[in-house]
Amino acid sequence: MVVRRGLGRWMTKPLTRQMSALVQSGMNPADFAEALESAARISAGWVGAHVSAHRGPVAEAMAYAVHGGKGLRAFLVLETARINGVAAECAAPAAAGIECLHAYSLVHDDLPCMDDDDLRRGQPTVHRKWDEATAVLAGDALQTLAFELVCGAQCADAARLDLVRSLAVASGIGGMVGGQALDIAAESAVAPLSLEEISVLQAGKTGALITWACLAGPRMAGADTAPLRTYGDALGLAFQIADDILDVEGDAATVGKAVGKDADAGKATFVSHLGLDGAKGRAQELVQEACDALSIYGEDADTLREAARFVIARKH
Ligand code: IPE
Ligand code: IPE
Ligand code: MG
Ligand code: MG
Ligand code: MG
Repeated sequence: MVVRRGLGRWMTKPLTRQMSALVQSGMNPADFAEALESAARISAGWVGAHVSAHRGPVAEAMAYAVHGGKGLRAFLVLETARINGVAAECAAPAAAGIECLHAYSLVHDDLPCMDDDDLRRGQPTVHRKWDEATAVLAGDALQTLAFELVCGAQCADAARLDLVRSLAVASGIGGMVGGQALDIAAESAVAPLSLEEISVLQAGKTGALITWACLAGPRMAGADTAPLRTYGDALGLAFQIADDILDVEGDAATVGKAVGKDADAGKATFVSHLGLDGAKGRAQELVQEACDALSIYGEDADTLREAARFVIARKH
């Protein structure tokens, strides 16, 4: 059930026009590549417009951190909304929100106390461009902005509460933060993690936010979440296996971030367990699993099937 109350209910007038134009510019994409590009533009534009009311390094760092990503999570929100009958203008705040949450996780992931990275999306990481305090604060503010934005999703009140609560769970100790903690602990573990332990780690670190993005559509529509949960869980794991493969096979200029980090840190990954070919085979199986889960949506889910194939074919 789609509730259209208009953007004006919760935004100031100039922001309403600006955001409405942004969403309109991304309507009816010709293919998956265009849909992904438009999701990235909508989410970065939406966040940029919110942050532009503020001055100073933290606000600048926030806008910088949401810029230049693939926009996969925003795309998943908009596309799962579309196939569940929810209009893009209703789902856009949730799409922008998940990209804020994701950007915060990357800003903190890159800090010297975590992965100590200098390059992100082909640009200096936030703590390298500004400083560590700015990076910590920009990450903190992106996290809270994520929840502020998701509160603006246009759907029934119970569905909006469900979106907010499930995002809190997916980003916290039972989701992304919990997975990051296991990842950091794995660097100093005496024995390398088993495949099963790596799967649990990845389901938290990367999978939880991707699955949340996939469930945003059915949640907003009050529809069954089961098919897209299967899709999202398989997609999230395939995505992280691809990330680990890129860490071995990619070059920093194309990937846009340092490579070879997992081996340097002595981390067990799908690649270290299965080898490159084995990891690619597992990722392929997961993509098939993800596509199969979409059968109830028929051809309307073809763009999501393409997204699943993209996730393991991508070069960055
Ligand atoms: C990178 O995510 C971090 C992981 C969760 C592995 P993405 O590859 O989606 O990053 P951007 O947003 O496109 O830069
Ligand atoms: C980071 O995982 C995942 C999160 C930020 C939650 P990685 O450390 O593998 O991501 P990259 O390789 O730096 O993008
Ligand atoms: Mg990391
Ligand atoms: Mg990292
Ligand atoms: Mg990585």
